[in-house]
Amino acid sequence: MATNEPSWSQVVGCLVLGLSVLLASCSDAPSTTCFDVDADCTLGEAAGEVGRFAGTTSEARGWTDEPVGDLVRRNFNSVTSQNELKWGALVRTRGVYDFAHADETVAFAEENGLRMRGHVLFWHRLNGPPAWLDAELDIGDPEARLRELMREHVETVVGRYKGRIHTWDVVNEPLVLLGDQVDPESMFFQAFENYEDFLDLAFRLAHEADPDAKLFLNEIFASFNQSSFDGLYRLVQGLVDRGTPIDGVGFQGHYIFGLPEREVLVERFQAFADLGLLVEVTELDVSISQFPNAVDPFVSQAEVYADVFGACSEVEACIGVTTWNSHDGATWLDRDATFAPRAPHSPTLFDEELNPKPAYDAAREALLEPHRG
Ligand code: XIL
Repeated sequence: MATNEPSWSQVVGCLVLGLSVLLASCSDAPSTTCFDVDADCTLGEAAGEVGRFAGTTSEARGWTDEPVGDLVRRNFNSVTSQNELKWGALVRTRGVYDFAHADETVAFAEENGLRMRGHVLFWHRLNGPPAWLDAELDIGDPEARLRELMREHVETVVGRYKGRIHTWDVVNEPLVLLGDQVDPESMFFQAFENYEDFLDLAFRLAHEADPDAKLFLNEIFASFNQSSFDGLYRLVQGLVDRGTPIDGVGFQGHYIFGLPEREVLVERFQAFADLGLLVEVTELDVSISQFPNAVDPFVSQAEVYADVFGACSEVEACIGVTTWNSHDGATWLDRDATFAPRAPHSPTLFDEELNPKPAYDAAREALLEPHRG
């Protein structure tokens, strides 16, 4: 079982393990464990009890939006930066870093004992790269220039949050969507003569900057699409074979083009576990557009959430599941140009009024179920 960092595991332990010294300092601690019949556990408490992270993302308005901050601190034990640690968001003007929003999220995680996932160092799509990057790589030797910029970026960002960001997505979505090849549109693919050198460099730099951080390669559709899985597996196996310091693989899990099957998820998580790696579901949302014939799409949605949380709970190497957006009112799917025409997607665990949906209890029960005595 992957071990947790002492700071958050103390908090989780305080809430669920009944350690008397810790309980004394924890006024809201339940007197039962999540496995007791009358237990009234949150998703985050249940996750902590089975040694997992149940996470969600920060939102555009930040943590000053108190009802959302409250929802996150009560129901989750992990948080991922949604946009504020992307290269494009941190460095809008070449050479000028703005850490204001990222600092807020890291502080929020620390103040509330939440594990922090840093998303993401290198991503070539949407708001991942800075607007100035293409022009920088247009002059001279693009590979040499990108190597310099990568070093500067990782040293600055991973260095700043050393010891505070537990897990980093180092590279995001290397593959073409629903395919097994590296995306030829990626500026990283185009700049490097050999794409593997780009991957190796990204992970080596991150490891040098924070040797204790868990370093992940994150991909979008590999949990339900065979080509994506095959392509991801090939890249990851290469990293492992070359001794590149990778710790884990992220399955994003945006279910807008297909749905996962629990047995397949378990197999795919285990395939990376067998390479000695950790696994996480990093960006889970389940669009109700996937259930056009359902009597109640929220019941069908709950079944998918149960499959994903349950599969993660079953596989020892799977350390957590993070939902992308904390509530339906904030979902990126309703705002993204590609997906907005099919809105509302209502893909998260909480509705627009911040009430838990059927998927919430289903996810919590699915986490606990494989660990019942
Ligand atoms: C999305 C954010 O949620 C949006 O707010 C932003 O406009 C675009 O990016 N895969 C990823 C995430 O790895 O970074 C993306 O997040 C969603 C798809």
